[in-house]
Order: sequence, then C-alpha cells, then structure tokens
Amino acid sequence: MTSYKELGLVNTKDMFAKAIKGGYAIPAYNFNNMEQLQAIIQACVETKSPVILQVSAGARKYANKNLLKNMARGAVEYAHELGYDIPVVLHLDHGSSFELCKDCIESGFSSVMIDGSALPYDENVALTKQVCDFAHSQKDYVTVEGELGVLAGVEDDVVAESSHYTKPEEVQDFVSKTGVDSLAISIGTSHGRCKFTPEQCTRNADGVLIPPPLAFDVLEEIEKKLPGFPIVLHGSSSVPVEYVKIIEQYGGKIPDSVGIPEEQLRKAAKSAVCKINIDSDGRLAMTAAVRKVLAENPGEFDPRKYLGPARDELKKMYMHKNIEVLGSAGKA
Ligand code: G3H
Ligand code: 13P
Ligand code: ZN
Repeated sequence: MTSYKELGLVNTKDMFAKAIKGGYAIPAYNFNNMEQLQAIIQACVETKSPVILQVSAGARKYANKNLLKNMARGAVEYAHELGYDIPVVLHLDHGSSFELCKDCIESGFSSVMIDGSALPYDENVALTKQVCDFAHSQKDYVTVEGELGVLAGVEDDVVAESSHYTKPEEVQDFVSKTGVDSLAISIGTSHGRCKFTPEQCTRNADGVLIPPPLAFDVLEEIEKKLPGFPIVLHGSSSVPVEYVKIIEQYGGKIPDSVGIPEEQLRKAAKSAVCKINIDSDGRLAMTAAVRKVLAENPGEFDPRKYLGPARDELKKMYMHKNIEVLGSAGKA
C-alpha cells in the first residue's frame, strides 16, 4: 500500500476549487511513456500550471503499474529539479471496476475515475458510491470522478458507438447519492480523432471539416443544478489540422479527422468545467513529428533522434493548451 502523499502527489480538491473560482481548467493529459511525461512536466513547469497526469487501464497494461507509479514520483522530483514545484495529480482515467480503482488507490493514485456511464442509472450510482466510500475513507482522501451521459468514440478500453447528452435533471441526485468529487458530462465531445461524422459537419473553403457547436445550453442547466461543483470534459482534443496534414504528407492515412475547436474549449474552461481531458492531440503531435523525421532521414535508427523531436513538439503543444486554451498557465 502506497499513499499518494508519499509520492509527492496531491488530490484534485484544492485544484478544482481554485480553478472554478478563477475561471480556468486544469489540463488532464494522458501518458504512458517517458517522453510524454517529460513533455508534460516541462510544459507545465515552464507555464507554471497545475497538472493531472492521466493513466488509462490500457496505459497501465502497456507501461506496467509499478513503473507508472515510480514515473509519477519521478515527475514530481523532475518538476522540482526544473526549478518550480507544481501540484501534480495521478489520476485513473475511465476506471471500469471497483477492483481496478482500489488497486490504483493502493498503488499511489491520488484520484480515480469510475466510469459507470454505460450502465443503467441505478447501477452507475451503486458502483460510483462503492468507489467513493473506499476512496474517501483512505488515510489520505482520494478524489473520485464519476460520469453521467455517454460520449461516442473508440479507444483501446473505452468503447461507445453512439452518444447521449447528460440529463441535467439527474445530476443533483447522482452527486448526492454517490458523494463524487467531480462529474464528467456529455455535451457533444467524444473520444479519438473523429469527433463528428462528416455528415454532422460543414466544410470551409479549404475543405476542412467544421464541427457543430457543443451543447452549452446543457452545460448551463447542469451548472444551475450544481452551483460551484467541478465539471469535467472528456474527449476534448482539438485535432489540429497542421498535425493531420503532416501525418498525411508523410504517408499516414487519417481521413475525416475533426476535433473540438479551441474557442469552444476556452469558453468551457471559463465555466464550471475545471478539468479538460486531452489525449488524442498528444498522439497526433508525436506521430506527426516521428513520421517527418523518419521520412526526411531514412538512415536514422537512433530512437532518440525521432522521439526527441516528438517530445519537443508535444511540449510546444501542451504549453499552447495551458496558455491559450485552458488558462491554467500561472496558476500553480
Ligand atoms: O479516453 C480514453 C483515453 O484517450 C485513453 O485511451 O485506453 O487507448 O489508453 P487508451
Ligand atoms: P481525446 O481523445 O479527445 O483526447 O479525449 C481524451 C480523454 O477524454 C481521455 O479520458
Ligand atoms: Zn475520456
């Protein structure tokens, strides 16, 4: 049993309270390897931003749970070495069972998500409450994110073919029955690089897909029902056209890619949305950089020569998010 405080981590309580008050959102960046973690920490230290390091079940399988725990500890020390201590949360992304959440809590996570959003309402309530009861009774309080409403999208361990918005009339009941510390909602975002079908979009003069707006009316209704309560947005990558173009220019095929426009995320970050999840943009940034280096340097076979530039590109992208989109820069 390792408590997150031994690793130098914090839970989300304080972070979210400040973010709601201050009208910004905390970045929640997924990682599963060293270069992603270095880029996240470098970017967040340089922009003086608090950060949530997110690990999915797939990432845990890929990277090994002991390595991940020690990488998180190393991340805290790395920030210190870089000259500025930022608050760091280690969070389980899309926990699918009580057992997985318990295992993460016992191995040093300071926050977990229990994702019962695909279950019937009563079962989601029961499962989320079970996780909250366990997490909150730890010596060091572990925070819990629940979810109501379904996001579309397909990831390794996160699969839903169609989405439905969160019902504002359910949120008060859900929060009071479960005791969750934050609530992920569905207002039109989705996982992965294709957030909308081409039929749901229009195209601009360059043929670029323009997505429909998020359901800000649903978000407003939810905020009215839960004043001051931390809201979370998943599936919030912007899928930058520049990365899609580089990937396709150097041999990749990722048709119909479309994300959430940055100005919509900026608007959301000013509301009760205080955690914004970004994974796909990191995948795109890394892939674009790696493809470019390898295509332009066919003789290159030292991984540092392509993972290094990928890390630099990631760092640039995360700094941009913190400063220009989420507003978290300068808040640590
Ligand atoms: O929301 C899901 C995240 O993007 C994690 O994806 O399960 O492929 O690691 P993953
Ligand atoms: P994206 O696929 O839009 O990056 O969303 C990531 C996410 O929600 C992780 O939980
Ligand atoms: Zn998600």
